[in-house]
Amino acid sequence: MSYIVKIIGMERLQKIIAQSGLCSRRKAEELILDNKVMVNGKIINILGSQASFDDEIIVDGKKLNLEKKVYYILNKPSNYITTTSDTHNRKTVMELVSGIKERIYPVGRLDIDTTGLLILTNDGELDNHLIHPRYEIVKEYIALCKPSIKKEDLKKLEEGIILEDGFVKANEVKILRTDSSNTLISLKISVGKKHIVKRMVEYLDSKVIQLQRVAIDFLTLGDLEVGKYRKLTDEEVEKLKKL
Ligand code: URA
Repeated sequence: MSYIVKIIGMERLQKIIAQSGLCSRRKAEELILDNKVMVNGKIINILGSQASFDDEIIVDGKKLNLEKKVYYILNKPSNYITTTSDTHNRKTVMELVSGIKERIYPVGRLDIDTTGLLILTNDGELDNHLIHPRYEIVKEYIALCKPSIKKEDLKKLEEGIILEDGFVKANEVKILRTDSSNTLISLKISVGKKHIVKRMVEYLDSKVIQLQRVAIDFLTLGDLEVGKYRKLTDEEVEKLKKL
């Protein structure tokens, strides 16, 4: 398998490896220290080493190719999975994009039935930054819940609850609309655990029947239609990198 990256000038070796999307910078440092990285046929095991676009870099037997970083936002429809391939022949979000030669992939996961904001990129560092719990990046979801939830119960999510994998807390929860059978809520969380919104709502003895991610921090869907995508602007990319 080859990985494609394009870097101009000299950069730290671990940064080039991470930017290729192969692994995180920390993992790249481990690989360097473990004698697993070769630059132009020579093993490099010193962390401060620099390399360039013209160098041949082989990591754990795999050659890195150099490619420019690209960033897209997709409004994911239901019934698509957020992986690049699927062994069960389900549709993947990659089928919604075309004409992109770079090897992009989805940042983080949305459930098959969740719709909304998904970032696609080939920038492994940004991917790692956006999903790493340390950065506590806030994502906003709109969830239609059935049966309806009382305001005082919903407040428990802001105080924090204990699920089977530990303590979780919403940054903010609001009722947008409610009637005798359903409640539409907006929920902001920085936790990235599996099925987290659904599990938080289940804790309140209700069930999510529709879920949409509407924002990742400042980045919103705007007027992007379901199933459509667009390039992120340079300003948006710079802001995401600084979150
Ligand atoms: N929480 C969920 O339950 N599902 C998602 O897809 C995202 C967050």
